[in-house]
Amino acid sequence: KLEKIWLIFGISCLVIFLTVVGVSAFYLGNKPPSCLTTVNPETVGQEKPFNEPGLHKVDGKAWDYELVYVASAFSYTPAQVEVPLGAKVKVIATTKDVIHGFEVAGTNINMMLEPGYISEYTTTFDKAGEFLIVCNEYCGAGHHLMFSKIEVV
Ligand code: CUA
Repeated sequence: KLEKIWLIFGISCLVIFLTVVGVSAFYLGNKPPSCLTTVNPETVGQEKPFNEPGLHKVDGKAWDYELVYVASAFSYTPAQVEVPLGAKVKVIATTKDVIHGFEVAGTNINMMLEPGYISEYTTTFDKAGEFLIVCNEYCGAGHHLMFSKIEVV
């Protein structure tokens, strides 16, 4: 009797779990964000958008600016950027060499940059101040020196 209850409980949990995952994947469109677009890491810097790292105003899109980053051991390009307060920004980043992190401390931006893939995240910078981009994936001897700055003014 008790076993039957547990069995039903177990199966119910499984069904609920699969439903949540299914709804999240197909209905809300949740996918691993870095697996969407690819880029050839050897030509990063020669082709759009990575030939022009930095902040660019865009028209006719759901965001106001695109902020392009190229990471390589052990720095980010650009090293510093100024973003207008309240701007909706799409961050577009990749790495030239190994896996790097891309965490903007004090915000909800936290991405992994993988060679060959483009990582994107759209957010609104609604807090003024200085935000540090740090690498949170161990990438070699200079890992702890790897950072960049976003100034929201
Ligand atoms: Cu780049 Cu750690």
